[in-house]
Amino acid sequence: MASDVTIELDRAVRMRTQALPVNVQTKDKLIVRIKRLLLERDAALVAHYYTNPDLQSLADETGGCVSDSLEMARFGTRHPGRNLVVAGVRFMGETAKILNPEKRVFMPNLSATCSLDLGCPPERFSAFCDAHPDRVVVVYANTSAAVKARADWVVTSSIAVDVVEHLAEQGKKIIWAPDQHLGQYIREKTGADMLLWDGACIVHEEFKERELAKLKAVYPEAAVLVHPESPAAVVRMADVIGSTSQLIRAAQTLPQQTLIVATDRGIFYKMQKAAPGKTLIEAPTGGAGGACKSCASCPWMALNDLESLAMTLEEGSNEVFVDEAIRARALIPLQRMLDFAGDIGRKIHGEGRA
Ligand code: 13P
Ligand code: SF4
Repeated sequence: MASDVTIELDRAVRMRTQALPVNVQTKDKLIVRIKRLLLERDAALVAHYYTNPDLQSLADETGGCVSDSLEMARFGTRHPGRNLVVAGVRFMGETAKILNPEKRVFMPNLSATCSLDLGCPPERFSAFCDAHPDRVVVVYANTSAAVKARADWVVTSSIAVDVVEHLAEQGKKIIWAPDQHLGQYIREKTGADMLLWDGACIVHEEFKERELAKLKAVYPEAAVLVHPESPAAVVRMADVIGSTSQLIRAAQTLPQQTLIVATDRGIFYKMQKAAPGKTLIEAPTGGAGGACKSCASCPWMALNDLESLAMTLEEGSNEVFVDEAIRARALIPLQRMLDFAGDIGRKIHGEGRA
């Protein structure tokens, strides 16, 4: 399992280093071409906060969406376009296809995977569930369609605590997969009886408690914002813990002017726009002279670039397909999450949750 992650990680890093840098004129031409192609193909661009800022601003400028995994999933179901282009990682493209079978879904690079998805192979996961038939199966969105098809609930980081709380109130025991750190955080927060899979995000796992404490000593007035895929010791140091959208909202509303942020650095583009006067500092990964592999930048998210996006639109290549039997099964727990999100949004805000 770990070797699959290493192989895919090396592959992504190789692909990145082989990509030629794009000069300003070429970049401008690519942007014009992509805008034209999105219109011609009746396609919406849905981008995650960790992708290249060029793609994020293109999504914004063309009526697409830039968001966390939950909102990415919801956007596709609301947009009238016939085609979706998902700039993110594989599970995001699959989720869009599961929810929108009538649409064609494309991705700039189908090799963009996720260590959590890779670390949770469907057969092994299914056997794990079979061994614990008394437990409700809750899986993180960062999983394959086949793993989702085995689940009772799918959740993203912005709604995981609410769903597990809801299940715990009903006295349900839970299987949680694949992110052990997020699972541990939810378990501590809700007190739910959760059996955890042992997956991890190679990006968030690299944030270091000791280095973060040193940084915090330099900026004692700073607030610490942490994505819950980070190790427990780092999560415990946080002033705010949340999904990418929740962290951006916190950056906007917190009184602190300096923010130390423990998540992929792609988030800084939108976070800085949301909180223009604030100083944003990356939480430390490997530490000075220490080794970090991802260094706060997801190697798979980085595979999304202007050239691959233009080519995908031009050629109609990199289409996402999901086996129909798996899709139909995976839709049930995904739709359950979206309905639940709608319900709590209505309770809290009197409308769909932001
Ligand atoms: P969000 O849903 O918080 O955007 O997280 C997705 C992800 O892959 C984080 O690593
Ligand atoms: Fe997966 Fe981590 Fe990359 Fe998010 S940042 S897509 S969890 S590897």
